Amino acid sequence: MKLRIHRIECTTSTQQEARRLIAEGKAECGDIVVADEQTAGRGRFGRSWISPRGGLYATVILSQGPLLSLKAGLAVVRALRSRGINAGLKWPNDVLVEGRKIAGVLIETAGELALVGIGLNLTSTPLDTATYVARYTKSIDRDEWAQEIIRELIILSETACALEAYRAACLTLGQRVRLEGVGTDAPIEGMASDVDDHGRLVVMTAAGERTVTSGECLHLRTSKKRS
Ligand code: BTN
Repeated sequence: MKLRIHRIECTTSTQQEARRLIAEGKAECGDIVVADEQTAGRGRFGRSWISPRGGLYATVILSQGPLLSLKAGLAVVRALRSRGINAGLKWPNDVLVEGRKIAGVLIETAGELALVGIGLNLTSTPLDTATYVARYTKSIDRDEWAQEIIRELIILSETACALEAYRAACLTLGQRVRLEGVGTDAPIEGMASDVDDHGRLVVMTAAGERTVTSGECLHLRTSKKRS
């Protein structure tokens, strides 16, 4: 796949920028939009993603495919682990180190295409509950991190069998969890027992097994394989 990088100093959101470039015929599948800074960075569940200079803010334009949301998180984990940082995943794709969030993934669609938005805290974080790469390594070159993550993402997006690797990196499995925002239902609480072949989280609740497609997952106690 031929990669083309669109570098932007400052934008509202690389997701929005990618959407605009596609609509104008200036970007296509395989292209990446990277910004130094975002003024209206977007997170999951309509939250904002605070995006000062010094972080990695990228949108990768790919074909939509099965498990892409899980694969994107796993790509970031693999890039971090390749540099000795013991990262893991909170289902579906929050990337944690020492129990704190270091990166997030937002997947949106634009027609047939997927916009895979990745935010990685490199040199700082505004949040107490989060962490950043410079705490663990001196390697904080933004473009090197982008290349490594995208390399892993392209490999995984072309791989049919990423689920075993995903499950092995998923810190949620074996945890007591609460799932919020699951359709119109009340939150679900129970033990996360599996990620099924469709990428759904299987939770054993007091009322029996539930399979969850989307929603915010909270870990209710500290993981034994803390990462
Ligand atoms: C999350 O809530 O965890 C997802 C955060 C995703 C942030 C990235 S930064 C690059 C891309 N542009 C955005 O506006 N959001 C994503």
